[in-house]
Amino acid sequence: MATQKLMLLTTCSILLFSLSTIATEKAASKPMGPVFIFGDSTVDVGTNNHLKNCTAKANHPYYGIDYTRSKPTGRFSNGLNSADTIVTLLGGYKRSPPPFLALLKNCSNFTAKLLHGVNFASGGSGLYKETGKDTFGTVVSLEEQIQQFAMVQGNITALLGDSKGQLLLQDSIYIISIGSNDIMSYVFTHHVTPELFIANLTTTYAIHLKNLYSLGARKFGLISVPPIGCCPIARSYSPVGDCAKEPNDLASAFYTPFESLLQNLSSTLEGFKYSLGNAYNMTMNIIEKHFGFKDVKAACCGNHTQQGISDCKKGGYLCPNRDDYLFWDAYHPSQAAAKLAADALVFGEDPEFVTPINFSTLRTA
Ligand SMILES: *[C@@H]1O[C@H](CO)[C@@H](O)[C@H](O)[C@H]1NC(C)=O
Ligand SMILES: *[C@@H]1O[C@H](CO)[C@@H](O)[C@H](O)[C@H]1NC(C)=O
Ligand SMILES: *[C@@H]1O[C@H](CO)[C@@H](O)[C@H](O)[C@H]1NC(C)=O
Ligand SMILES: *[C@@H]1O[C@H](CO)[C@@H](O)[C@H](O)[C@H]1NC(C)=O
Ligand SMILES: *[C@@H]1O[C@H](CO)[C@@H](O)[C@H](O)[C@H]1NC(C)=O
Ligand SMILES: *[C@@H]1O[C@H](CO)[C@@H](O)[C@H](O)[C@H]1NC(C)=O
Ligand SMILES: *[C@@H]1O[C@H](CO)[C@@H](O)[C@H](O)[C@H]1NC(C)=O
Ligand SMILES: *[C@@H]1O[C@H](CO)[C@@H](O)[C@H](O)[C@H]1NC(C)=O
Ligand SMILES: *[C@@H]1O[C@H](CO)[C@@H](O)[C@H](O)[C@H]1NC(C)=O
Repeated sequence: MATQKLMLLTTCSILLFSLSTIATEKAASKPMGPVFIFGDSTVDVGTNNHLKNCTAKANHPYYGIDYTRSKPTGRFSNGLNSADTIVTLLGGYKRSPPPFLALLKNCSNFTAKLLHGVNFASGGSGLYKETGKDTFGTVVSLEEQIQQFAMVQGNITALLGDSKGQLLLQDSIYIISIGSNDIMSYVFTHHVTPELFIANLTTTYAIHLKNLYSLGARKFGLISVPPIGCCPIARSYSPVGDCAKEPNDLASAFYTPFESLLQNLSSTLEGFKYSLGNAYNMTMNIIEKHFGFKDVKAACCGNHTQQGISDCKKGGYLCPNRDDYLFWDAYHPSQAAAKLAADALVFGEDPEFVTPINFSTLRTA
């Protein structure tokens, strides 16, 4: 079924931003705990390259065409993705820390490298354990990503000692970008009412956040679900290229209980701090106002003449100017879009896009 492919590659999460909210200050440079990143293809920097039975891979051209030496790294982007652009602006990084599975494979100095941060994100994954597995084979669910972090936490405290290790982990920032694949999966099954689905998704997110908190995490940088109905693959089902309503409505509906959950956690869990990026508003803002993009509807790479298929590959269609496009492929934002999103999240001041504080304030909180 062609529609089943819609949930492909995780998410089109574009993000957002507003030029007027971009401040020029640099993030403070006092030494801080490392960055840990969790989520789906919006922030995966090569995890899936290490999975044998996984079809959600971006390890071939034209992926990475604007990366150093045009290397396809597994990022679902022409260059850097949001994991890279966010940590770069936070300071202390040139790009995202490496995938956990890459560090595990190359044991040389494993523990020392953990101190520079780890990226656990896996394209196709979700808040639910089963999300993505039917479509992509093996993906690393958020639950498994957190289990991997539990090992990292153990290795770090073993190296530094309990109290020093705990202090470092409390001073780290935990970035999470996930939920699109769960929503796409629901759109194809409708196994419960939308209200129950959203309530259950929120409860599931709460369990994951509490588990991370128990492992010592305190500072959460979270990115909500973007309007996945507006990514090129979803628009391709409409004769006139309109955004798909149902996935957009669910993405938008999830924001409010998610924010409420975070407010509740910060008032009940001692020391719990968060910054919530509203990817829905950010992306819609770009789609409406363009912000320099010449095309906010089509994919730069692949012309998906066959509905539901992502065909960004060598020999296929490639647009002449990647930076003119909001979307790199049928599902994912371009590097240029990831940079705008990071600006809004890290330095923004508009509560419509990031609340209650921005990521740079969270970093130094
Ligand atoms: C393994 O890590 C070492 C030390 O950082 C590095 O020099 C080497 O290139 C890495 N090997 C691979 C295959 O990534
Ligand atoms: C391993 O890590 C230690 C501590 O950070 C460092 O002193 C050493 O040079 C590293 N060794 C290699 C081969 O990278
Ligand atoms: C591999 O992935 C397919 C779905 O793409 C799944 O049906 C199959 O069970 C998986 N095999 C293993 C060994 O996990
Ligand atoms: C990291 O922790 C795991 C689980 O406790 C352990 O098996 C492994 O040996 C540790 N690795 C290092 C390098 O200490
Ligand atoms: C959420 O739904 C899953 C099945 O998809 C179920 O196993 C789980 O118990 C539900 N959780 C809550 C909190 O309702
Ligand atoms: C947050 O707490 C309020 C008050 O206890 C409750 O009504 C609401 O359902 C909670 N929200 C979530 C998402 O847990
Ligand atoms: C931004 O998000 C909030 C919360 O979902 C919503 O109330 C508001 O209407 C949104 N603003 C725009 C312009 O979409
Ligand atoms: C899609 O790309 C193929 C290969 O480059 C090309 O032959 C075809 O004309 C393109 N179709 C559209 C609709 O752009
Ligand atoms: C982030 O938010 C704070 C508090 O709202 C604001 O003062 C600051 O200008 C914003 N930007 C940066 C870079 O901190």
